[in-house]
Amino acid sequence: METNLYPCIATAAFGLEGVVASELKQLGFGDVKAESGGARFRADPEGMLLANLRLRCADRVQIVLAEAPCQSFEALFQLVGGIPWERLVTPDGQYNISGKCARSRLMSVRDCQAIAKKALIERLRAKTHRDRFPETGAAFPIGVSLHSDIARITLDTSGTALNRRGYRTWNGEAPLRETLAAALVALSPWRPGLPLYDPCCGTGTLLIEAAWRAAHRAPGLTRSFACEAFPAFRSVDIPGMRARLEAETDLSRIGEIGGSDIDGEALELAGRHVRQAGLDGRIALRQLPLQELQLTAPRGIFLCNPPYGERLSDREHCQQLYGDLRRLQQRHPGWSLCAISSDPGFERAYGKRADKKRRLYNGRLECEFLIFHGKC
Ligand SMILES: C[S@@+](CC[C@H](N)C(=O)[O-])C[C@H]1O[C@@H](n2cnc3c(N)ncnc32)[C@H](O)[C@@H]1O
Repeated sequence: METNLYPCIATAAFGLEGVVASELKQLGFGDVKAESGGARFRADPEGMLLANLRLRCADRVQIVLAEAPCQSFEALFQLVGGIPWERLVTPDGQYNISGKCARSRLMSVRDCQAIAKKALIERLRAKTHRDRFPETGAAFPIGVSLHSDIARITLDTSGTALNRRGYRTWNGEAPLRETLAAALVALSPWRPGLPLYDPCCGTGTLLIEAAWRAAHRAPGLTRSFACEAFPAFRSVDIPGMRARLEAETDLSRIGEIGGSDIDGEALELAGRHVRQAGLDGRIALRQLPLQELQLTAPRGIFLCNPPYGERLSDREHCQQLYGDLRRLQQRHPGWSLCAISSDPGFERAYGKRADKKRRLYNGRLECEFLIFHGKC
């Protein structure tokens, strides 16, 4: 093993682990393996920065610093104290320790956080011969998680979660998380070059993620990551990598991408997001009920996140809308329709069985992503 390759995990929402593993493989990482909650891989600091900049569907990129069975605070103290913190953090860093405990003997998150912090400071004290750690410098997001008595200690290289691309400053009523939107684009039969249309586009997330993908635009290009302040990343040419990815972006690759919504306010937000994503003039938006939508292209993909009708009073209305989506596809026989919904009655209301289905989570809501193929 090359010495500067760290074991990493790209965390992902339930159901998207395989999608993130595919992304990592496409980016050329080695030892990629999907598991519950994410995909493992190995990377040097340059690779980790690339993963942060390029991954579309992952939540965070974390270095796995230690992982071992752990049933006592003493074992946790030893595990954390065995990590070479003096090489990983700066002595003035802010060591922000988050915790999670599930199905383990150690179930007090607060105590696990306190023990981990104590072990880290003691290690730094012994190795750096300093007494004071003012915690005024860069943030080091450290994770301590216990699951089935296995402790995992991580250092989060992303900082703010990767769905925060920077284009969404205003939220609509039920916006789709950017990482889930990017995954739906990847899981749909759409490929750049084919027309893509969202008939209930809300604030435009699916359209922006598809356009960025077509343009080969790295989703993290204009945001920063926690790892940029880590000692191990000092030798990485961060501006150089950003400039290279910027140069790889080609907006002229974006084909026909458009959307509409019945709600004018949501569309205003969509317009703002499109501008903030640097896609002005690349995505056609209009206010229109999907019942009146008629497109001219003979083939393409409808991709949408219609309302789910979680409240009983809304359910009937939503089910009518799913029937309207079917009629929309029937008016466009060469188009396939893909929709995410938490409503188990979607197919019945649509009036047809999906050709493909996949279970996913939209936040905490269990959903299905349904694909109805068109005739072409
Ligand atoms: C769950 S939201 C979509 C959120 C969107 N994916 C986003 O990221 O913001 C559902 C959208 O369907 C729209 N909608 C409801 N009925 C509609 C209709 N008859 N025609 C077009 N859009 C409709 C709503 O206005 C709302 O914006």
